[in-house]
Amino acid sequence: MSQKTVLITGATAGIGLAGAQELGRRGWKVLVHARNEARGKGALETLRAAVPRGDFDVVTGDLSSLKSVAELARQVAAKAPVLDALWNNAGGIQSERKASADGVELQMAVNHLAAFALTSRLLPQLKAAPAGRVVATSSGAHPLAPGNIQDWFLDRPGKYRPMQVYGQTKLANILFTQELNRRLAGTSVTAHSFHPGFVRTSFGSGGDPSKKSVFEMMGFLALPPEKGADTGVFLVDDPEPAKTPGRYWVKRKPKNPSGKATLEAGARLWAQSEALVEKAWQKAEV
Ligand SMILES: NC(=O)c1ccc[n+]([C@@H]2O[C@H](COP(=O)([O-])OP(=O)(O)OC[C@H]3O[C@@H](n4cnc5c(N)ncnc54)[C@H](OP(=O)(O)O)[C@@H]3O)[C@@H](O)[C@H]2O)c1
Repeated sequence: MSQKTVLITGATAGIGLAGAQELGRRGWKVLVHARNEARGKGALETLRAAVPRGDFDVVTGDLSSLKSVAELARQVAAKAPVLDALWNNAGGIQSERKASADGVELQMAVNHLAAFALTSRLLPQLKAAPAGRVVATSSGAHPLAPGNIQDWFLDRPGKYRPMQVYGQTKLANILFTQELNRRLAGTSVTAHSFHPGFVRTSFGSGGDPSKKSVFEMMGFLALPPEKGADTGVFLVDDPEPAKTPGRYWVKRKPKNPSGKATLEAGARLWAQSEALVEKAWQKAEV
């Protein structure tokens, strides 16, 4: 059987790094996405020490820039003309209002829009695989999203509410998965999302190693990263989920997401995401 290839975004820490280690151990070729060369080198050293026979390679890109996402997709397409799985995992929470390079609220930009853009550019490579998979690390925090969102990229005026915005991005992960799956009907590619549990990672530190993450502060309650990665690894590697595509999983079981995950919301999110990405890519000429 030929070796399968997976791209994992945000594979330099936490759930993504643990997922990369396990899939490498299972014989997958793992494209380890890092925000830059230095972070990638560190992850590669960790992975090669843990799985000496593993097949790991680094690709880089800052997900807060759609130009950089396009460049990342180019690197991946060159290394993997056939991509068996794309695990959109990178993400986090911001304590303050910030904007991406494209002027989009930063959590929506990194946690959702980058995954939307990357997936759209890599669909030809995923379709070239016998049973391509797109997996999203969502969260049980998705019900915190506001109800009935009309404009997904409107940065609401007034006080910035980090958890509400985070919940919105994680609802977006579920809606994107559902809508993508609907659009992929009749192809060999399926899409799946999951909640990893409450996992001890650097989540909440905002990428600043000097800041303590939520989980370092409450670490005794949290799961180790390999447990958090488990359902993601299952969705990438097990034949079972492809039989019920488009679903949201918790502890390897399909579960109904919040009632906010409607078809209409997914269609609206898709149209608005597509328009933003097209505009940014036209401007950047990529
Ligand atoms: N931990 C939990 O309890 C929990 C619960 C539910 C869902 N999740 C979800 O799990 C996913 C992984 O989070 P984690 O808990 O493993 O956190 P983490 O340890 O902070 O890992 C996040 C990863 O995303 C990368 N990343 C963040 N922003 C990026 C950017 N602009 N460009 C490129 N890479 C970027 C990080 O790179 P750097 O290392 O360079 O910052 C890192 O590799 C996230 O989507 C999160 O929402 C986590």
